[in-house]
Amino acid sequence: MKKLAKSLIFLWGVSGFTVTGCVVSAVPAPPVDSVAEAAGAAEKVSRTLWGDNVGAMDPFIDALLAKMTLEEKIGQLNLLTSGWDVTGPTMNEDYKDDIAAGKVGAVFNAFTASYTRSLQKIAVEQTRLGIPLLFGYDVIHGHRTIFPISLGEAASWDLAAIEAAARVAATEAAAEGVHWTFAPMVDIARDPRWGRISEGSGEDVYLSTQIATARVKGFQGEDLAALDTLLACAKHYAAYGQAQGGRDYHTTDMSERELWDTYLPPFQATVEAGVATLMTAFNDLNGVPTTGSAYLLDDILKTRWGFEGFVVTDYTSINEMVPHGFARDNRHATQLAINTGVDMDMQGAVFVDHLKALVLEGKVARDRIDAAARKILAMKYRLGLFDDPYRYMDEDRQQREIYKPENLQAARDMARKSMVLLKNADGLLPLRKNGLSLAVIGPLADSKADMIGSWAAAGDRHDKPVTLLEGIRAAVGDDTKVTYARGGGYEFDDTDRSGFADAMAIARTADVIILAMGEKWDMTGEAASRTSLDLPGTQPALMRALRELGKPMVLVLMNGRPLTINWAATEVDAILETWYAGTMGGFAIADVLFGDYNPSGKLPVTFPRSVGQIPLYYNMKNTGRPYDVNGVEQKYRSRYIDSPNTPLYPFGYGLSYTTFTYSEIRLDSAQMAAGGTLTASVTVTNSGARDGEEVVQLYVRDLVGSVTRPVRELKGFQKIMLKKGQSQTVTFALQPADLAFHRRDMSYGAEAGEFKLFIGGSSEAVKEADFTLLDTVVLRPAHSPQVRALPHYHSTRNPIASLTHE
Ligand code: NOJ
Repeated sequence: MKKLAKSLIFLWGVSGFTVTGCVVSAVPAPPVDSVAEAAGAAEKVSRTLWGDNVGAMDPFIDALLAKMTLEEKIGQLNLLTSGWDVTGPTMNEDYKDDIAAGKVGAVFNAFTASYTRSLQKIAVEQTRLGIPLLFGYDVIHGHRTIFPISLGEAASWDLAAIEAAARVAATEAAAEGVHWTFAPMVDIARDPRWGRISEGSGEDVYLSTQIATARVKGFQGEDLAALDTLLACAKHYAAYGQAQGGRDYHTTDMSERELWDTYLPPFQATVEAGVATLMTAFNDLNGVPTTGSAYLLDDILKTRWGFEGFVVTDYTSINEMVPHGFARDNRHATQLAINTGVDMDMQGAVFVDHLKALVLEGKVARDRIDAAARKILAMKYRLGLFDDPYRYMDEDRQQREIYKPENLQAARDMARKSMVLLKNADGLLPLRKNGLSLAVIGPLADSKADMIGSWAAAGDRHDKPVTLLEGIRAAVGDDTKVTYARGGGYEFDDTDRSGFADAMAIARTADVIILAMGEKWDMTGEAASRTSLDLPGTQPALMRALRELGKPMVLVLMNGRPLTINWAATEVDAILETWYAGTMGGFAIADVLFGDYNPSGKLPVTFPRSVGQIPLYYNMKNTGRPYDVNGVEQKYRSRYIDSPNTPLYPFGYGLSYTTFTYSEIRLDSAQMAAGGTLTASVTVTNSGARDGEEVVQLYVRDLVGSVTRPVRELKGFQKIMLKKGQSQTVTFALQPADLAFHRRDMSYGAEAGEFKLFIGGSSEAVKEADFTLLDTVVLRPAHSPQVRALPHYHSTRNPIASLTHE
């Protein structure tokens, strides 16, 4: 199956493959049918990945569709929340009546074998055709056993562990009647003010793309019909991560090149990995809400990428095209959404309200309804729901699967791997377990609710999570004294300092102060944008007061985004970024603090010094006036006059309790030709006193392009374990395709010329080598956005009536 997936990429390459000797080449547009051919091939690939027995499935669905009324087909396109949870602004109280009336194809926010069974029974027994429901849920970083937040998992740079984490989540959720997760979230995010940066894999295209693929594989496994797999959903398509000002749901506006080079690759990777569904986004992109964008949904997703799964909207995002000012009313929005490629309406209930009339008026084709219903029914078929609608709803299996010891162990392991040691002055960490007095202080030190972050839908916030205090107490010897004080508050408006005295009192008699500070869990995630990245509440004041005691101090951060912690970076001895570490978080943090695990995480996102630097990411452009710290003329350079340009902590950065040294880079050749491979090797030595893991990172810089190129781009990484004193040679193979980007004419390819290559332990890696790409290699021809004239209202009263827009 994997081979087939790859052949798709190859096919694209073949259809537009061009080699030229000059840097900028004119690429002829491909014949139209080569695009169609590629799309056809993609269809076969995804159907193979989904294990389709076409000979059995297609006739079954044909026969079923032939029996269905228009209303029943429209019902399949309707997704409603159950009354169990609210993950958006509206609620539909009548969902059970709607199910019985055949107006619902899928339900979300419902889980447990018994509850999903009770709803399934309504669909199977009370509707005319008994078509089973599909149950969706936000299974993001664990289901019951909660793993670190997605951004934290990304900090592990451990693709196998990330895939395994998604596997565990799928196993638990599928045992509770869930068929479909609204994950992975694959939005590139470069603005930490945006609360949803916590849900993705950070700022980098390459890392995020690898992780997106790992998560799809983890959720979907090899067999959609298996009882321990879920349909995955790549979201939010597209460019949601670039919300202006970091304000959630805000407009995005960007160049085609930025869209294709930065924001689309993770989505394309999930399609190539066989993701079953995609979710549209809340934002408008270059003036068009994504839920009504024929360019995104039809031209790119369906035609170019050959996506054969179904497209669901985000929560009420069809309705939101009205306040966006793109549709006059819900009926108009419905017409735009269905005609541009939306298959399922999440919670808006506009398809059931308006689609029938639109079909009867001739504004929506019956075929379009059939096509959408077919895709959804096909997913139900693949899950085996037509064989047995209740097959995922088994109380015994639920009992066996959730919180299994191996799930908890996997969560603890993942949590340890996700932690990033930001500072460790004088080797303060790891702490010894015996003979110490430890003062554990801060609003996050003993808070179960916070440990699991904001997107832990079915996670328990009351009993199950292990807090830092509990983890420390469980780890230390009897002769170590552990005291605790909350000390201060983390709400934005907390001003009460009455808890400081207790904190100061226990700190005074302690050998080491361990601070647990950061953000309250609901300050991150959806609808949690911030204008300041400082520690909220009285935390900074408490930290400063405690510092006055002059005791060794460790700051354990719990947060969902980069924070501006300049003072702590200078004044506090050790800083460990633990994100929200999940159900087993307290144990995992203790593992790191006491050296049972040597930290190996690296930042998947840049930590700025101030909000004023945002957006700040490692692979920025050089500009025409790059600032050179050592230069003489400083004034008319691209710089701030009140702050360095540099981040507080760069992308890819993270310390270990040991040290690693890198040899010079060895290239097998200083030249790469079209069709060739260049290998770059480096010897990494564990030069410290402990065994440890290192993430060896490879970056390239394309010195001259037909468009300006980033100063560095991650192109490979390997996580290796080295015993103390041990050395290992790490080799990377690069091909022209790895150097490709969207060129001036929007063809996708690599351009002949000079490159620099860097290898090291962060995006500031200093070892470098030079090579030349001899040929320009075009992998995909240029394309331009297609503007489609779709059926539209014709009203003489409305000024947009005469326009045909998407
Ligand atoms: C809205 C969020 O944007 C999306 O990520 C989530 O999957 C849905 N609500 C369903 O809860």
